[in-house]
Amino acid sequence: MIQKPKGTYDVYGSKGKNILYIEKLLNVLMDKYNYEYFRTPIFESSELFHRGVGETTDIVSKETYDFKDRGDRLMTLRPEGTAGVVRSYIENKLYGSAVLPLKTWYYGPMFRYERPQSGRFREFYQFGIEVFGTNDPIMDAEVISIAVNFYKLLGLKGIKVNINSLGDNESRGNYRKALLNYLKPYINDLCEDCQNRYLKNPLRILDCKVDADTNILKNVPRTIDYLNEDSKKHFLKVQEYLKELDIDFKVNPGIVRGLDYYTHTVFEVEASVEGFGSQNVLCGGGRYNNLIETMDGPSTPGVGFALGMERLLTALEFEKIDLDYDKGIDLYVIPMSENEKAFAFNLTQNLRLNGFSVDMDYMNRNLKGNFKQADRLNSKFVVIIGEEEVSSKVLTIKNNTTKEEYKVDINSIISFMDEIFGEENE
Ligand code: HAM
Repeated sequence: MIQKPKGTYDVYGSKGKNILYIEKLLNVLMDKYNYEYFRTPIFESSELFHRGVGETTDIVSKETYDFKDRGDRLMTLRPEGTAGVVRSYIENKLYGSAVLPLKTWYYGPMFRYERPQSGRFREFYQFGIEVFGTNDPIMDAEVISIAVNFYKLLGLKGIKVNINSLGDNESRGNYRKALLNYLKPYINDLCEDCQNRYLKNPLRILDCKVDADTNILKNVPRTIDYLNEDSKKHFLKVQEYLKELDIDFKVNPGIVRGLDYYTHTVFEVEASVEGFGSQNVLCGGGRYNNLIETMDGPSTPGVGFALGMERLLTALEFEKIDLDYDKGIDLYVIPMSENEKAFAFNLTQNLRLNGFSVDMDYMNRNLKGNFKQADRLNSKFVVIIGEEEVSSKVLTIKNNTTKEEYKVDINSIISFMDEIFGEENE
């Protein structure tokens, strides 16, 4: 038997319904915040991620799915969404035509060749936003607030918001020097990868999984102690705006994020429910004021975040949150025999096209079996179509909970259903 690839999963049953519900909610939410939908290819040239995400990040150096296409071009399945959206922003010259700031959102599969475990997949879905064109700290706060409000909207209670700042170029440069000085005496005690990172990209030593628990890393200098005046001001403003929106957060100097492009604010939201497991970061993001320039675009500030769908579903499960959507159908149609099937089929189709959720018997069940099926489908109403119904064109619609019955002429079935279901289906 052929099995699914390691680190992937199938979606069916209630999981599928939950995902669709969440996707719909994201859609509506993005409309309210006035964000524009973006879709970029699932594979891009490998160079995009090497330059965008960073050569020495774990994501690029160890986790990408790379392949050569039949034209010998090096391609990579996207490990994240920011680099692709930035490429599209530059390639389509949106800096020229767009109303600034350009606020975008995207949703789709990402691929990382990681060691699979709970909350960590090789194919996973991210919802993300990227905002271009403003360096105002109010936008950092808006981005964080979207993540928090979305989780709250779904009913999640156990979430913690951690923020930090890496500062602007000058602050980052100062921090880099301090970090190199601090680490110098310990170089030989670091893992081989970190010894390499020391030379190429010392900030990445901070997210090393091998050295994470050593005292060397526990006592490293903190980025917030190296912020220049402008960066300090920016970070304080972000905090002010978050307080204005009543968003609880903690300044956590340990948050540095595993991607190279960040400047100023970085943040992560984690699930704090007991037993959630180690992959408890529900989402993460921050500001990236140099990225667009690095990718050969005009100097443009950017800020965004992405959240993982799988970890969100797990958090909902852990908090026992039953998503609030209609889990049944409106009507189940039962033809008594082969003779009434076409009539039932036509009725079913007509109601569906008029906005109702309707199903019928396709299995030639007996009456008892059909009522069981109506219960399984959580149908609110049931109608039996027999010889008499076909000839009189008068149907008996039965409320499947109260068992109340209504006689309805087939010509007024739509207005009857409209009345019963009110505005629900409008
Ligand atoms: P990231 O922290 O690498 O950031 O990923 C964001 C979220 O995606 C994580 O918090 C997690 O929920 C989910 N995630 C990441 N890897 C996996 C995995 N292997 N399995 C399941 N879920 C996963 C980014 O990707 C940045 N592009 C975010 C961003 C957007 N920054 C600015 N704009």
